[in-house]
Amino acid sequence: MVYCLVKKPTPITGLLLLIILNRAILASLDVPYIIDMGSKLVIALSVAALILLIIWGYHGVLPLLFGIEIGGGMGQVFLVAVWGWNLTVLLSSIISMATGMLGVSIIMNIESEHQQMIEADGESEYVIEVEDVYKDYVVGNIVVHALRGISMRVRRGEFVAIMGPSGSGKSTLLNLIGALDKPTSGKIYIDGVDISKLDEDQLAELRNRKIGFVFQMFNLINRTSVARNVELPSIITRMPKKKRIEKVRKLLSILGLDEDAMKRRPIFLSGGQQQRVAIARALMNDPKIILADEPTGNLDSKTGKEVMEYLKMLNRKLGTTVVVVTHDRSVAMMADRILHIMDGKIIREEYVGDGYGNE
Ligand SMILES: Nc1ncnc2c1ncn2[C@@H]1O[C@H](COP(=O)(O)OP(=O)(O)OP(=O)(O)O)[C@@H](O)[C@H]1O
Ligand SMILES: [Mg+2]
Repeated sequence: MVYCLVKKPTPITGLLLLIILNRAILASLDVPYIIDMGSKLVIALSVAALILLIIWGYHGVLPLLFGIEIGGGMGQVFLVAVWGWNLTVLLSSIISMATGMLGVSIIMNIESEHQQMIEADGESEYVIEVEDVYKDYVVGNIVVHALRGISMRVRRGEFVAIMGPSGSGKSTLLNLIGALDKPTSGKIYIDGVDISKLDEDQLAELRNRKIGFVFQMFNLINRTSVARNVELPSIITRMPKKKRIEKVRKLLSILGLDEDAMKRRPIFLSGGQQQRVAIARALMNDPKIILADEPTGNLDSKTGKEVMEYLKMLNRKLGTTVVVVTHDRSVAMMADRILHIMDGKIIREEYVGDGYGNE
């Protein structure tokens, strides 16, 4: 808290300080009903917080704190009315309500700003643009040049495969496109937005809303059910519960998983089924882009092909742009275009079919 104030003063930290000060003054007061206020206030706070939660949904700890502050202020006004006049308590309750309301409105503002930052002004033709990107990894005193000047563009709704030998920089490129890491130099635009201009929160927002990731190892949570795994990303973006549940069902059924599979834990499914669950999870927030790093790497070739068929169907049906990293030529041949990369550079581009999705 003190650290935040000194290092990064924001209106929010200021308001939090005001709340603490306000409480301290109130606590030092020698008003008889302050003693009893504890229990009454707790009830008032909980009711207020509950009402807030119901009408507004859960938006995190901070808004809740400010919500309780509003409720607390109201509780104090009530106490003053019942037990008698006290100027300090009244003033403190006004401060409580005001800080609470200000805090809530600031947080809602910040949220909508984030939303705006990740939206470009106009729709660009390309959903992914990579301009002369370099990526160095420094390990001890050795520098690994993982990417050495990559430029590429992916159209909306395109299905692109990236092929290349082990260590050629495929995963590095995918992680940069997915905003999981930052390039050493060069620019990356996702859906028309220069992602180097976004801060950590905005990047997280971008990843949550625009990009779905699928990994070789599925990365599912085995402690919980398949349905819950798929639901998770939409909890983060605060999709209403009813919509979430409908969507989980719909996606899993599109991906050929039945009610029975939904209730199981992922570990009790086959590899191909688990990867389809991971794809459903990636699609939960209607991403514009699916990034898949060796999605068939852990599957036998028949199951791998099935998983790819699903990805392709989603690409065609929903218009989701798909970028798949693969070692497997038969997997890559299902894409519209193959980018061959070697030693951190694109060495060749290959169109499959006519390049517009028709084989
Ligand atoms: N976090 C890291 N720290 C240091 N070096 C890294 C890191 N990640 C990747 N590298 C190096 O960067 C280069 C490219 O790695 P990358 O993982 O992108 O290759 P890849 O094409 O995905 O390989 P594979 O097919 O084996 O998955 C390699 O030389 C690798 O050792
Ligand atoms: Mg890799």
